[in-house]
Formats: sequence, structure tokens, C-alpha cells
Amino acid sequence: MLRFARVSESLPVVLIPGLLDSARLYAAQIPELWRRGPVMVADHTRDDSMSAIARRILASAPPRFALAGLSMGGYVCFEILRQAPQRVAKLALLDTSARADTPEATAARRAQMTQAANGRLREVVEMQFERMVHPLHREDPQLREINRLMGEDVGPEAFIRQQTAIIARPDSRPSLAAIACPTLVLVGEQDEITPLDRAVEMAHGIRGAQLVTVPECGHLSSLERPREVTHALLDWLGG
Ligand code: MLT
Repeated sequence: MLRFARVSESLPVVLIPGLLDSARLYAAQIPELWRRGPVMVADHTRDDSMSAIARRILASAPPRFALAGLSMGGYVCFEILRQAPQRVAKLALLDTSARADTPEATAARRAQMTQAANGRLREVVEMQFERMVHPLHREDPQLREINRLMGEDVGPEAFIRQQTAIIARPDSRPSLAAIACPTLVLVGEQDEITPLDRAVEMAHGIRGAQLVTVPECGHLSSLERPREVTHALLDWLGG
């Protein structure tokens, strides 16, 4: 027999995609997370500094939420936590790093920004794909196509804004100790862009953080290993 009891309030989830990524990044996770409560995919395309990106997301986010970000999305999470720690009930850092940019990374970004400004974003997206995914997934036409579509969703102007924000991002390692909410740190074991040691560093720096490593997986974990990442996020949300 059906009983009509009041159900408890559910915690909304805010998902932040990475550089050149769109809502498609979380296509497998959204329906599963939604079964637990509202899900919002943040817009991280309109501003060229981490502080402005975080401010815009906070302006449209619910009063209190569970926050997850992949790669650049993680850089934005750190800024959200600096601006409004009381609003973040839970944190999931996927394939990201707490560190600031290196001079080498900045130089590579500037070269890509020039390419994008010259109408060659498509080449940037293709080149990045090779580094982003585990060797097992490099020949996966579906994954390559999703990655191409995400690049189109974002477009060259937003890509340049995002890279400008990433270049100037601060070192978030000094803020790790202040993070007081339950935190999941997840990384693809073969992530070449933000490797395992960066995840270990974050997990050690955040009190009580849980570290999950995903085997046979590169940087695009939510797309490469959708089931494993969904399970980890459901555990994090429910735990
Ligand atoms: C991302 O996936 O957001 C980027 O790889 C991050 C970066 O380039 O630092």
C-alpha cells in the first residue's frame, strides 16, 4: 500500500564543467543525481576571472548545495569556497588540482588562445582530446564526437575567457585546510593533465577527504568511466 509521508528536503547539486566542456560532460550523471534532488549545470563561460565566474554561479545557485567540479570546474569550486563557504554543504573535486598555473602551461595556453582567435579552435579541441583520455579511449568515435560538440558549445570567445581566468588563478593549496565540508577527491588513474599526485595532495590537505581513483581512465573521467563516477557521486551525496 502507498503511504503519503512527507519526504525530507533534498540537497541540490551544482555541477561545474571543465575548460571547453559543456553540460554534456555530466550527461550520464545528471539523471541519476536528479533522482536524489535538483541538479544545476553551472555556466562557466561568461567571465574571464575565477572570482567573476564564481560570483555569477553563486548568484544563480540555490542557498545551500552540494558542489562538484571537474578540472577547471574544480578551480572554480575553490573560488566559490573562498567567497561563500557556508553555502557549500559537500564538495567533489574531479580530475583537478589546487595549484596555480606554471609558466610552461601559461605559454601553451597563450598559443592555443591565438589558434582559437584565428578560427582554429577545432584543432585545439582535437589536439587536447589525445591528452585528455586514456589510450584505450583515444579511438572511441563517440567520445571524440562528444568532445568536439562540447568545444562547439563553448566556442572560441568563451574559450579565451576561460583560459584567461585559468592563467591568473591563485594557488589554492593554502585554502585546503579551511575546507570543512565532506569532500570527495576523484581522479582517473592515468590522468595526464591533473595527475594522481595532485589528487593525493588535495585529499591530504582537506580534513577527512575521501580519495577515489578510477582505473583505465584519463582526465575526462565522467565521460570515460560514467558508471564509476556516477556511483562515487551517489555515495558522496548519500553518505
Ligand atoms: C580542464 O579540463 O578544465 C583543463 O584541462 C584544465 C586546465 O587546462 O588546466
